[in-house]
Amino acid sequence: MEYRSLKSFPEGFLWGASSSAYQCEGAWDEDGKMPSVQDCTPIVPGTSDWKVTSDHYHRFREDIALMAEMGFKEFRFSIAWTRIIPDGDGEINQKGVKHYHEVIDECLKYNIEPVITLYHFDLPQALEEKYGGWASRQCIEDFVRYCEVCFKEYGSKVKYFLTINEQNMMTMYNMGNFKTDKERFRANHHMIVAMAKATVRCHELCKAWIAPAPNISCVYPASSAPLDNLAAADYDQFRNRLYVDTIVFGEYPEALSEYFRQRGCMPEITSEDLAVMKAAHPDFIAFNYYGAATVKFVSLEEGEKAKEAGRKEGAGKEEFMIGMQTEPGMAVSVSNPLQDMTSYNMAIDPVGLRLTLRQLWERYRLPLLITENGCVVTDELTADGKVHDDYRIDYLRKHIIACKEAITDGVRLMGYSPWSAFDLVSTHQGITKRYGFIYVNRDEFDLKDLARIKKDSFYWYKKCIESNGEDLE
Ligand code: BG6
Repeated sequence: MEYRSLKSFPEGFLWGASSSAYQCEGAWDEDGKMPSVQDCTPIVPGTSDWKVTSDHYHRFREDIALMAEMGFKEFRFSIAWTRIIPDGDGEINQKGVKHYHEVIDECLKYNIEPVITLYHFDLPQALEEKYGGWASRQCIEDFVRYCEVCFKEYGSKVKYFLTINEQNMMTMYNMGNFKTDKERFRANHHMIVAMAKATVRCHELCKAWIAPAPNISCVYPASSAPLDNLAAADYDQFRNRLYVDTIVFGEYPEALSEYFRQRGCMPEITSEDLAVMKAAHPDFIAFNYYGAATVKFVSLEEGEKAKEAGRKEGAGKEEFMIGMQTEPGMAVSVSNPLQDMTSYNMAIDPVGLRLTLRQLWERYRLPLLITENGCVVTDELTADGKVHDDYRIDYLRKHIIACKEAITDGVRLMGYSPWSAFDLVSTHQGITKRYGFIYVNRDEFDLKDLARIKKDSFYWYKKCIESNGEDLE
């Protein structure tokens, strides 16, 4: 609905931005750190590796001072498990522990709340080699032990922890390279239980709030056909609810469980698993939003064919992608001609953000924190030594207005933490794919001076924060 006037952002709204350790820290083997699976994954040709990235490990003081200048109220970053317990399950590395104390203290010096992600795609490689990572139940215990170290060390200074970033993307895009769906969903179940246990232990060990951090988006049907509407509801269970219902209600969505059972990939759920899933009560829901999903129905037969074509050795990229985005008998993800796109084929859909906020609030009644959203472009450093990123300002303005509309709808929104505070290396498309308010002066392979340069959006966001979201011009 369209309102005549919009409510203001609440007092204490957490304005800030986000990052993740392996994408920005560099120093990949310094001070006792051992490799994570990210350090060991082959680099996409033509893109940079993870050795230096934005060099934030050495420049965090300068970066946090710039965030303070923008007026940040929070900074979301992740802790690298491989700095705290380098091999995943052995000795605690005091140098790594000290580093994050320094980062947290630097934030607090400027009254910036650290929002800490405990796991952002970077499993210790040693655990991958030892027992296949999340495919093993042992990973639950090792993750929880690592989290306990963080709660004990940082829990008296940190108010907000996030367990696992984008568990759903890791599962849906099979980032663990599992050979079968059975194994993929078993690993996913282990993450669910690990999150639940970490949530319970956080509440036992400190006063901080804790939340999951999946990537959530509302799902549009590709047409008004009844079957496409059913596909959208089913895909919502598969893409979103599987990762939130399990931690908030302690239950798998029912229809999806039956679907998994019939495909032979329902994981084993022990009575201890169920007990801890029921005992875990997240204090809020953090989520990343980049654009809504659009799906149409696909029959079991057609869906299986598409999956098979994608799996076949030698299948082209297109067949592979369709295969990846097809759930036989449920839905296939399609592009939406009515959704605006940035370069890099990423959606610009603020209405989808409002709808996603509403659905999450109406379903779970927990405060919400947007932990990612952002405009990706290959920014250009112009001859005047500046970056004129008016497209980013326009993108952020539209999404912030959508937040205001959602607040007017009644949603309890705690904060807005877009991706990313400063430029960092994208998951698979290098540093050329930039999202930050602060330009990091380097190219894909030429590290240059890594100087920090304030983009136009830096000044715009500063004004937005100063006015608590009122001045968006
Ligand atoms: C999210 C991730 O999926 O999207 C981030 O949590 C990632 O780690 C961001 O960087 C943007 O995606 P990409 O692929 O452009 O880096």
